[in-house]
Amino acid sequence: MLSGKNVVLGVSGGIAVYKACDIVSRLKKVNANVNVIMTKSASEFVSPLTFQSLSQNHVVSDMFEEPKTWDIEHIALAQKADIFVIAPATANIIGKMANGIADDMLSTTVIATKAPVLIAPAMNTNMYQNKIVQMNIEKLKNLDYKFVAPESGRLACGDIGEGKLATPETIVEAIKAVLIKNKDLEGQRILITAGPTREAIDPVRFITNHSTGKMGYAIAKTAIERGADVTLISGPVNIQKPAGLKKFIAVQSAAEMFHAVMENIDENNIIIKSAAVADYKPKHQSDKKIKKTDDDLSIELERNKDILKEIGKAKGDKTLIGFAAETNDLIKNAKAKITKKNLDFIVLNDITQKGAGFGTDSNIVKIINKNGDIKEYPKMSKLHLSDIILDMING
Ligand code: PMT
Repeated sequence: MLSGKNVVLGVSGGIAVYKACDIVSRLKKVNANVNVIMTKSASEFVSPLTFQSLSQNHVVSDMFEEPKTWDIEHIALAQKADIFVIAPATANIIGKMANGIADDMLSTTVIATKAPVLIAPAMNTNMYQNKIVQMNIEKLKNLDYKFVAPESGRLACGDIGEGKLATPETIVEAIKAVLIKNKDLEGQRILITAGPTREAIDPVRFITNHSTGKMGYAIAKTAIERGADVTLISGPVNIQKPAGLKKFIAVQSAAEMFHAVMENIDENNIIIKSAAVADYKPKHQSDKKIKKTDDDLSIELERNKDILKEIGKAKGDKTLIGFAAETNDLIKNAKAKITKKNLDFIVLNDITQKGAGFGTDSNIVKIINKNGDIKEYPKMSKLHLSDIILDMING
């Protein structure tokens, strides 16, 4: 049942529009509230009145029509959505979404939503296999847009091949899977570290790295959605913290992160260390701004505590996951970290690869367990990777 869930269904123009009527009818049967947005060409295939009757809601298609229910319709619908579905999705709407184009009601509303977006493409086989269309789909997948792949079969144009809209039943199941996230981590208490650390040189200067916190925050968000109690310990970042955290602790330096982790370790049974912690800090911190002279300046560095190694020493039956940001001898270095830090898994990212590591919304990783088994993953969004990491913990 989807009682209380708001599904915004974007319908773009193609022969498969009639199947979207069945999607609406199936969603209504499981008590979802459905608002339909049609493109102009979609309404050439099926009248908005049909969708209005099925959804029992006003159907929107014109940016400039007199508002009926909302003040600024595209923003209100974008905010209202628990999920935004586009079915059928033509090459045109996929291209617009992949390139940030907002020139009608549907493309404008979908660009304004923060809800998960599920796209069910339907088009002629040659169009679907066109490299530009595939590049657009790939780009959207990397940005965590979800897809229900089209089926193969006889298309309306007479061709036989890929491009047939997935069945309404499959699409409704995919909608349910997004809306009713499996709460398989209920009862788990997970401590996650994220972001960089800052090691002060003087009151105005510090040593840091390129971490933005995106990886750790994605794991935190996903773990919360799956029912876990999450404590997030974060270095200084500029992203929003996920809703629903049990505890959030902001830290600056590696020493502060060490203390925050150690104070919270007992009450957690899973620890995931995605933070990029500085290995060294200036041996002496000046309490006044260091003045420049004509001479060179050397800063003596001393070791910070290896937080992960300290946790590893006393981990007991806790599950401990580390990350390895490597540029060379990837597997050798990552495996050495598993042993040295007593880890259950390590998530290895080669930070020289495009789309991996620091600052990106995607990552490319290998996950190695303590027995040395290696699983290799293609480029994927950090949110998708978070699910994979959490699946691994859950057995
Ligand atoms: O934050 P983003 O911009 O999304 O970037 C993500 C990321 C690249 C930071 C992330 O994917 C990642 O690789 N994090 C670990 C970075 C790192 O410090 O790697 P390392 O190989 O130097 O350290 C190995 C492990 O030891 C890490 O789990 C680290 O948290 C831990 N460590 C390191 C040093 C130290 N003094 N204490 C530690 O606990």
